Amino acid sequence: MSNDAGKPQSAAVAFMVAGSAWFALGTIYGLFSAIHLMAPEFFNNIPWLVFGRTRPVHVNTMIFGFVANMLIGCALYYVPALLRTRLWSQKLGWIAFIFWQIAVLSGPVTFPFAITQGREYAEYVWIFDLCIMISLLTLVFNCVLTIAARRQNMLYVSVWYAIGALIWTAGVYPIGNVMWHPSSGALPGLIDSIFLWFYGHNLVGLLLTPLAIGAAYFVVPRVTRTPLYSHTLSLIGFWTLLALYAHIGGHHLLQAPIPNWLKSISVVDSMAMIIPVFTVLANVWLTARGSLSRLWKDPAGRFVLAGTIWYLIVGIQGSVQSLPAVQRITHFNNWVIGHAHIAVLGFSGFIALGAMWHVLPLAAGRRLYSHRLVNVQFGLALLGLIGFFAVLTAAGLIQGVGWYNGEAIYRVLPEIAPFMVLRAALGILIMAASFLGLYNAIRTLRGAPLRESESPLQEGPL
Ligand code: HEM
Ligand code: HEM
Repeated sequence: MSNDAGKPQSAAVAFMVAGSAWFALGTIYGLFSAIHLMAPEFFNNIPWLVFGRTRPVHVNTMIFGFVANMLIGCALYYVPALLRTRLWSQKLGWIAFIFWQIAVLSGPVTFPFAITQGREYAEYVWIFDLCIMISLLTLVFNCVLTIAARRQNMLYVSVWYAIGALIWTAGVYPIGNVMWHPSSGALPGLIDSIFLWFYGHNLVGLLLTPLAIGAAYFVVPRVTRTPLYSHTLSLIGFWTLLALYAHIGGHHLLQAPIPNWLKSISVVDSMAMIIPVFTVLANVWLTARGSLSRLWKDPAGRFVLAGTIWYLIVGIQGSVQSLPAVQRITHFNNWVIGHAHIAVLGFSGFIALGAMWHVLPLAAGRRLYSHRLVNVQFGLALLGLIGFFAVLTAAGLIQGVGWYNGEAIYRVLPEIAPFMVLRAALGILIMAASFLGLYNAIRTLRGAPLRESESPLQEGPL
């Protein structure tokens, strides 16, 4: 198959714009969930609006719909661009796009009606797992053939991360979703939770994380017009991520009767995660040193810079909360929800947004409709997220300390009620940010063509 269907970058554009749309829809479901936690009677027990139904729609729409979509879209642009070739097949890019969207759409269509496999992050029923797999394998195939047809000999690190993320997830996804048991998507007994968390943490660790790092490595040198600080560091970060992340899912199960050796490995390697996190951050920040103001002034660069700062906080917090002594207070409460939001939105989501604002105009051949709207989106999302982090961490500590001291769960609930109100209110800021972004993306597609000097052929230094 040759470079055929449609416009040269159309699949990349489709993934990115779909990501913006899912971001907006996902926040609505986030808000439904938050309202339920704030005022459980608010929706009058309408079955498809209760927390247990809206929460999985929110979580899956954010992970697969918003962040993954946007980052895959960016990768479909930068992989061929860095290899100085074209995507091997736009048609295959579109096939991958369609299957991915069918799976994401199945969330809001099936979960509210209790059609779910009921395992966190693995809720999609078998037929939609199959859609994800078809999409992933098609993407791997397309990218490998793009690499084979490259005109640039060196494989820049972003290409490593993109192809790594796709191949690893194509391996991890069917295992974690127990796809050889189509009816349940589960194994009997405790072993199921080991499989689930092997997959669950790798979904963020081996899909979102490498895609986000690959995108940051693409955007930062281009915006700062500085070559990458160190290719060696970038490869150390890549291989240590794979070596350490793949088996730390056990840190979700420290309170469960899984084998002790599994807990020990997961705790030790969670601490060691400091190595890939700091390697990446040192490399990105040293690339940007001396040009930080240029990065900050660029609307896309600003999102990416903030995403790397969130990654620092996420990495330190993640390692610390892997310690059993810390988890005695932080596990099973809003502390973890705070971590999840700064990780998925702050780190991978901010980088996805920044990379999209950098790449979308290049891929669509259109000028960005409004830099100002990107900055407003940034301000709203940042304010909302800092608020989320503060409120959820505080609520989590109140819950954790209360339970530790023997307080019954229901007696602690009134104490966190004000925090639940604040979280719902802050959610409105993030929701506004998502809708502004969707509007800006759509207006960009209909906007003025890029000038010659801004064309995709003017690749910046790496
Ligand atoms: C880099 C090192 C990281 C470490 C050591 C780490 C560690 C942890 C630990 C120990 C938990 C479980 C806490 C508990 O249940 O008590 C957790 C939860 C979580 N982490 Fe991380 N984390 C890291 C990075 C990330 C990143 C980069 C992401 C996303 C891109 C992420 C997303 C999540 C999510 C969504 C949860 C919640 C899972 C659930 O539903 O219970 N983490 N993390
Ligand atoms: C309108 C803004 C948002 C609101 C109101 C909101 C609210 C919520 C609520 C209520 C939950 C369930 C918490 C619980 O189980 O106690 C949740 C979970 C989650 N949200 Fe959001 N959220 C918003 C935006 C986002 C965004 C933008 C992302 C990612 C890009 C995101 C990612 C997640 C994840 C990964 C979880 C699962 C956390 C876990 O299991 O530990 N949320 N959110």
